[in-house]
Amino acid sequence: MVAVAILAAGKGTRMKSDLPKVLHPLGGRSLVERVIESCALIKPERICTIVGYRAAEVKTALAHLPHLEFVEQTEQLGTGHAVQQLLEPLKDFAGDVVILNGDVPLLRPETIADLVSTHQKNNNDATLLTAQLPNPMGYGRVFCDGDNLVTQIVEHRDCNDAQRKNNRINAGVYCFKWEVLAEALPKLTTNNDQQEYYLTDVILHCDKVMAMDVADFQEISGINDRFQLSAAYEILQDRIKEKWMKAGVMIHQPDTVTIDDTVQLEPDVMIEPQTHLRGNSLIKTGCRLGPGSLIENSVIEANTTILYSVVSDSQVGENTQIGPYTHIRGQAKVGEQCRIGNFVEVKKSTIGNNTNMAHLSYIGDATLGAKVNIGAGTITANYDGVNKHQTVIGDRSKTGANSVLVAPITIGEDVTIAAGSTITKDVDNDCLVVARARQKEIKGWRLQS
Ligand code: UD1
Ligand code: CA
Repeated sequence: MVAVAILAAGKGTRMKSDLPKVLHPLGGRSLVERVIESCALIKPERICTIVGYRAAEVKTALAHLPHLEFVEQTEQLGTGHAVQQLLEPLKDFAGDVVILNGDVPLLRPETIADLVSTHQKNNNDATLLTAQLPNPMGYGRVFCDGDNLVTQIVEHRDCNDAQRKNNRINAGVYCFKWEVLAEALPKLTTNNDQQEYYLTDVILHCDKVMAMDVADFQEISGINDRFQLSAAYEILQDRIKEKWMKAGVMIHQPDTVTIDDTVQLEPDVMIEPQTHLRGNSLIKTGCRLGPGSLIENSVIEANTTILYSVVSDSQVGENTQIGPYTHIRGQAKVGEQCRIGNFVEVKKSTIGNNTNMAHLSYIGDATLGAKVNIGAGTITANYDGVNKHQTVIGDRSKTGANSVLVAPITIGEDVTIAAGSTITKDVDNDCLVVARARQKEIKGWRLQS
């Protein structure tokens, strides 16, 4: 049996932020959520999150995760003190406890599974994840004997010059026999530079403590300040983009592209520079996205092009062309083979197949049939200042340039609306409708001076 404990009670002073450190977002999810996710493969029996600084806020932010237990550390007296808070809630627990810092968000689930299996195979009292870092600055240094058994962990600030030269660092990821850890925890003291209870000191009270080097040291990057948070984002992005490129997605100038790890892409998608894919988006094969587009929580069907545009919370059908400079949002559903062009906004509307709106329009709260043509500058006047109203346009109808459709309104099928019309009443099928002042010419009229 394995229990997981996540240390998330610290303030994160070095972030210089009002938000608790572990709630800072990294690619759409908080640091602590990512840490929790990294335990997926070991299928923990229990997950205890140790909270303290702004505990209520941290709990609320994690309320959507099932089976999470919260353990309060009301005063933050160090990582050892944080783990001491488990003595009561885990008093009847038998098995291994995996302890993770809430600020180490890039661990791969496989790495944690490896740590647990190394621990169990070797019957260790404790096994800790270590890394050989080119720049070990700030991390605790791990000292081992010839058999890879840990003799000492010394925090950076407590190291002497010779100890600082050791590049092997403590990742803050441990697996303990709970029985041994529970015995050792009450023996901790605060005899160090920070006058804190250090979790790392429990190894002095364990017999067999083994170090396991992680293959990719980027995984154990701890986040203490904003610079490290942005570096972690880069690492995450590199991983995501490498994965998709290996799966057949073409990304041009990947350094200018960002993709959340919740996004799904099919092979032969092409992503052009300065394009950002966020949230629960699905992009089907043959799409060309960008340059310069943002797609958020949207499904884009095959072979669609989105150029210099924003699509959020919406669906776009196959073989459709969006952009340049289009904004599609608010649960819009655009059909197949449509063309939504320059400076057009579509909000919460359903657009039928083969329908075009090529220039300068606002279509909101509307249902458009198939083969409709929206003339340049057509506006649905959907808002009366209090409520939003619906516009319906039937198949094959055409709106002239600069028409205003004052909702609620229904335009039939095969209708042509004359340019510059303001339509306020429903229009029947199969007609031409003109609603504008007749042009007058007043012969010989001049301004009187
Ligand atoms: C810790 C390790 C260090 C290791 C590094 C890896 C100790 C003493 N040192 O140092 O060896 O190299 O992590 O990143 O453990 N926390 C609490 N309650 C507290 C104090 C901290 O919950 O009273 C939490 C923090 O919210 C954070 C985590 O513990 O998520 C680590 O604390 P932090 O102060 O960042 O430890 P480091 O100095 O980085
Ligand atoms: Ca840290």
